[in-house]
Amino acid sequence: MGREIENLLDILNFYKALGFKELPSGFINSILKDRESCDMTHQEAIFESIDSLNDRIKKCFNCPLSKSRTNPVCGEGDNSVGLMFIGEAPGVEEDKIGRPFVGEAGKLLTNLIEKMGFKRENVYITNTVKCHPPGNREPTKEEISMCFDYLKKEIELIAPKVIMTLGKVATYALKNMEGKINDLSISKIRGKVFFYKNIPVIPTFHPAYLLRNRKDKWLTWEDAQEAMRRLK
Ligand code: URA
Repeated sequence: MGREIENLLDILNFYKALGFKELPSGFINSILKDRESCDMTHQEAIFESIDSLNDRIKKCFNCPLSKSRTNPVCGEGDNSVGLMFIGEAPGVEEDKIGRPFVGEAGKLLTNLIEKMGFKRENVYITNTVKCHPPGNREPTKEEISMCFDYLKKEIELIAPKVIMTLGKVATYALKNMEGKINDLSISKIRGKVFFYKNIPVIPTFHPAYLLRNRKDKWLTWEDAQEAMRRLK
């Protein structure tokens, strides 16, 4: 039983012990008022800061990926620019040290951020799933949906002005996981801005793909310019 209900029962028993047959007038209003301030503190206690969300991620053992991970990988950065990047899942390097985009793909992402005129620490970088899938495989639909509450909360707390999804997994997650993941083609969907809870989402190629397909870097640069226009 939640503590608030326990407290309420104490209060009701108190009135009963005093011989009240009905609740005194104004009682409900005063409870509702208390609840408003309780809700604030409750929210603050659980989710107000990214730190408490990250604590939950670090203790999460909801899905099979948590059993094989070395470290969960939480998001990092801040929102001074108003831009959030969402990748797929931590790779081997990220799993080792517990930070997102620190391997080769991460270097390419950092270059892009700097080319946009920003510092890496002033954008927010996170992943769709927070634990490394063994063998670097793509996370399954089930894994994505089990981890989605964390991403949802991160977006709510950070409240970016613009989101760039890196690759099809992040794009699929923000498109409500419609259909099958393999039906989504990032080459077809990039260049088409969509909205997640009123936030413009710019889908683009994953930096790991760009490492293998350098010519498509120019398309990603076009997507980055769209993000910059929307940030202004
Ligand atoms: N690829 C991702 O999608 N995320 C990382 O953090 C690293 C590589």
